[in-house]
Amino acid sequence: MNMDVLVSLSKRRGFVFQSSEIYGGTGSCWDYGPLGVELKNNIKRVWWRDFVQTRADMVGIDASILMHPTVWKASGHLDRFTDPMVDCRECKRRFRADHVDAVSWVHYCPATKGNKFTIPAGEPCGHCGQRRTLCPECGKGELTAPRQFNLMFKTFMGPVEDDAALTYLRPETAQAMFVNFDNVLQSMRLKLPFGIAQAGRSFRNEITPGNFIFRTREFEQMEIEYFVNPNERVEGRPADEYWHDRWIQDCMAWFGRYGLRAENLRLREHDRDELAHYAKRTVDVEYNFPIGWSELMGIANRTDFDLRQHAKWSGKSLTYFDEERKEHVVPYVVEPAAGVDRALLAFMADAYREEEVRGEKRVVLRFHPELAPLKIAVLPLLKKRDDIVGAAQTIRADLAQHWRVVYDDTAAIGRLYRRQDEVGTPYCVTVDVQTVGDSERGEAGDRRVTIRERDSMEQIRVPIAELVTVFRELFDGASWSQLAERYPPARG
Ligand code: GAP
Repeated sequence: MNMDVLVSLSKRRGFVFQSSEIYGGTGSCWDYGPLGVELKNNIKRVWWRDFVQTRADMVGIDASILMHPTVWKASGHLDRFTDPMVDCRECKRRFRADHVDAVSWVHYCPATKGNKFTIPAGEPCGHCGQRRTLCPECGKGELTAPRQFNLMFKTFMGPVEDDAALTYLRPETAQAMFVNFDNVLQSMRLKLPFGIAQAGRSFRNEITPGNFIFRTREFEQMEIEYFVNPNERVEGRPADEYWHDRWIQDCMAWFGRYGLRAENLRLREHDRDELAHYAKRTVDVEYNFPIGWSELMGIANRTDFDLRQHAKWSGKSLTYFDEERKEHVVPYVVEPAAGVDRALLAFMADAYREEEVRGEKRVVLRFHPELAPLKIAVLPLLKKRDDIVGAAQTIRADLAQHWRVVYDDTAAIGRLYRRQDEVGTPYCVTVDVQTVGDSERGEAGDRRVTIRERDSMEQIRVPIAELVTVFRELFDGASWSQLAERYPPARG
């Protein structure tokens, strides 16, 4: 599947828009539209529920984005959070040195009187055999030697823009969990192992962002710092290694549970020379994105690096008192770190299907019902009948007390169904003549409506009075076939 298909669907149906589009757009920033924000909130909500709310060993925080500048000295970001970049001396474009051979390049070929060609990434010119040495963008300028470029966004706190006021937008949410370690430990009286979770914005001045919402300069992360006692053993193994493997399994299972197909998920172990300066071992969960296999999240064993660094730079003790061994220990930390935007992209890509139904193409987003931005659409069969429209609007208002529900009467029913399929709405409720009857002819309605299920397109007839109970069952995990056994099929 092509990324352009998702970009176009996202814009057309209100998931994601280019930021500041009317001004020509802001480089690699994206805005979530009415459906995008629902999807994103649902991802964060189920993550929080599954990894914080339901677990006795987890708590959450919500820290500020601006932190004390020394945080970034202690964490290593000021000195090491850099990418090597090269600049074109002619057109001034900037590239990541390690990415410059991964883009197609412009070439003025001496063997064809200087004709201009665009040559695929990494390939030589088919006429003169030359490989790229100049700027891939303009094809004319020499590239500078690589220089290290720090990815943190600088800003100034307060009215004076001098070095004393210099601070940074956080490039990860993780550090707030480390600097609040003792606050959380003391206020919540926690025992190891325990984790602190946080979901929030991070900022990185990426040199080559791109691929839609895959790599952006402003994004959201869902991170967990899981603290363990390095002196303990669990099932015969050091606690940090045991918990690292447990989190890898739990994260893989979580993405599977909400719809990512097993064949599109894999684990990738970081090579020794690729490991971040703080990591003993890191494993990425990779997803087969439209751009190919790429990192969806990382799960690192950060050892005691961060707590030791912050203790050193702040002068505050960041230890845990081990009652059993009667000693202070610096916990090790296992860090499952996921990107919200990347997870959203993966859930969308995996849900996207093009199917043929009765000779027509149907586009459907097969979202897990918990993630679907809209849960139910209420549709009147005839928009000219006030009684049908009135009943449909009352049903929408009742169901909207519990779920995100929309009403739509702007097209014929077949078209309305296709629209909801395309945004992944699991259920449509249709109000028709049979529901309300015909007062002119003295016919009473049956006060039943049709529920249509997105994936099977099957339809059942359910009393209006039972709708909330039925949907509660469905959203609590009952299968469609369980419901279909209880209610009669609708005449299609
Ligand atoms: N605290 C560890 C940490 O931040 P990371 O691998 O740099 O680790 C974790 O980031 C996750 O955040 C990534 O796996 C990815 O999902 C997301 N992420 C990182 N940089 C991103 C960017 N520029 N745009 C979108 N998501 C990003």
